[in-house]
Amino acid sequence: MAFQIKSYEEYKEVYARSVAEPEAFWDDIAANFYWRKKWNKTLQWNFKQPDVKWFINGKLNITENCIDRHLALLGDQPAIIWEPNSKDEPHKVITYNELHLQVTRFAQVLRNNGIQKGDRICIYMGMIPELAVAMLACARIGAIHSVIFGGFSANSIADRLQDAQAAHIITCDGAYRGAKDIPLKNIIDDALVSCPFVKKVIVYQRTHTPVSMIKGRDEWWHDELQKVDDETAGTTPAQEMDAEDPLFILYTSGSTGKPKGVVHSSAGYMVYATYSFVNVFQYQPGEIHFCTADIGWITGHSYIVYGVLCAGGTSLMYEGIPTFPDAGRLWDIVEKHKVNILYTAPTAIRSLMAYGTPPIAGKDLSSLRVLGTVGEPINEEAWHWYDEHIGKKRCPIVDTWFQTENGGILISNMAGVTPAKPSYATLPLPGIQPALMDEQGNEITGNSVSGNLCIKFPWPSILRTTYGDHERCRLNYFATYHNMYFTGDGCYRDENGFYRITGRVDDVLNVSGHRIGTAEVENAINMQEGVLESAVVGYHHDIKGQGIYAYVILEKEPEDAPLMQACILQTVNRIIGPIARPDKIQFVKGLPKTRSGKIMRRILRKIAEGDMANIGDTSTLLDPAVVEDIKTGKI
Ligand code: WT7
Repeated sequence: MAFQIKSYEEYKEVYARSVAEPEAFWDDIAANFYWRKKWNKTLQWNFKQPDVKWFINGKLNITENCIDRHLALLGDQPAIIWEPNSKDEPHKVITYNELHLQVTRFAQVLRNNGIQKGDRICIYMGMIPELAVAMLACARIGAIHSVIFGGFSANSIADRLQDAQAAHIITCDGAYRGAKDIPLKNIIDDALVSCPFVKKVIVYQRTHTPVSMIKGRDEWWHDELQKVDDETAGTTPAQEMDAEDPLFILYTSGSTGKPKGVVHSSAGYMVYATYSFVNVFQYQPGEIHFCTADIGWITGHSYIVYGVLCAGGTSLMYEGIPTFPDAGRLWDIVEKHKVNILYTAPTAIRSLMAYGTPPIAGKDLSSLRVLGTVGEPINEEAWHWYDEHIGKKRCPIVDTWFQTENGGILISNMAGVTPAKPSYATLPLPGIQPALMDEQGNEITGNSVSGNLCIKFPWPSILRTTYGDHERCRLNYFATYHNMYFTGDGCYRDENGFYRITGRVDDVLNVSGHRIGTAEVENAINMQEGVLESAVVGYHHDIKGQGIYAYVILEKEPEDAPLMQACILQTVNRIIGPIARPDKIQFVKGLPKTRSGKIMRRILRKIAEGDMANIGDTSTLLDPAVVEDIKTGKI
């Protein structure tokens, strides 16, 4: 059976086989990788505990699959092409041979610093090639990396460090993002005030920002490299990993206050990230794949680093933002590096759309073959703009749906192979068995129906646990529906069986493709002096997809309301980070609560949307008058 599906007919056959005999199907797919020792049982699972294991007793190291096995044939091919933030700085090309050298050397640095298999390492860096090198070096020695996105605050980092008990950190002095310099090391230093267990911080020098370097704890990346003997580094073998050994932890938001550490396995993750990459994008050898996500999210893990490199592809990595120095930057990059696949978020498309077509004029986009979107539902208007102005109507658009917990794309069309439909993720990949469920826990069969999206059968890169708290994993994903993985998304299945994701059905927001829990934002707001209580909901935002609307009750009438709003924003910045800042803050006297004290968010959402006519029945509220009051004060 071929690794890459080539036609719609073949997709249907392969899909049918993946459901009829999933183990034999995944045995065939997994045989395309390099194993130190083959697995002796393909799958063991139950969704009750949950307990899912794939490729049992198989032994491997993912970096031998991402790098070593390509060296003989692809050693001189670019593995990573890096485009810096500033147009004046030269780009870098890192071949597979060079990547091998850098990863083995840095793996030696990690070993020299006492890091061992199973240790957790936090990575907080900008989008530079060394970030990929750091991840791969961790994987090389079996250390579990936890990459934290640069938009999170010191307090968020401290929470994650404590939860993972990560005693080692890899960071940069600073990061360039657009016109801003982000002082990463300073932010880490603030986080470490409450993390005395951290033993080492390795700092890559990128911005030459002044930083404090504490003797005995903080080390420069370049100094540590000096201590490495190239000969030993190159010949030190990669750590042999069990198929089920954790590869990484990635924190994500849920409907409760505290982010959870999603744990991914070594083998299952590798197999699925690579399989989905090759099939969804229909990757062809030699092509340049440009994913604009930050590596701090699952999209970057799977489709900038692991999936692309495992497939022997060339990954283009960009340090900056799409609008720097102007809104034509992505198109300049496509032209400069002859990008073949461009994979970005609807929010980026909408923000670029707002500049019209002048930034595209005169840019040669003829190298593009496939376009992709991810992270949030794409509206039809943005889909058509992307199709017409970027793809010039000759590039298939893949709308890829997945989640941090999934490791790789679960529902998407395959470029040029299966049909596309604007605003639809369309069909499940082989091995993925979706189900739509009603509120009573029954499966809704047939077509032209809506329900809560679940997955009935395990796939290789399903999360294994939430770090340090397996019960939380069970409750969050496996307890809502019997014997199913619950995604938290609502979904419609059309007359042809194509899936359209309609958005979260839980208290999770998706702001510019970033996932944020309403409870997290409320907790942060409530920490501000003078705040009594708050309720946060999402509302439609033309560019961000969703905006954050906060209703806040203060202890007393504020003397200076705008100042109080600004103070609340500062607190949210401190507690979570800039990505969670509310777009609107309305001071209210009360919140609509039921007699049992539950906040009626449905009402708050309607008001935030300005949909006053459809607020519905308020007679069951403890105090119906608060609704009128809130309506009057709407921003
Ligand atoms: C949530 C997962 C997976 C990549 C980055 C986000 C939403 C993701 C789509 C899509 C509609 C989408 C869902 C999902 N989502 N992709 N193509 N169409 N919605 O990962 O932070 O774990 O968020 O993003 O609501 O549950 P994440």
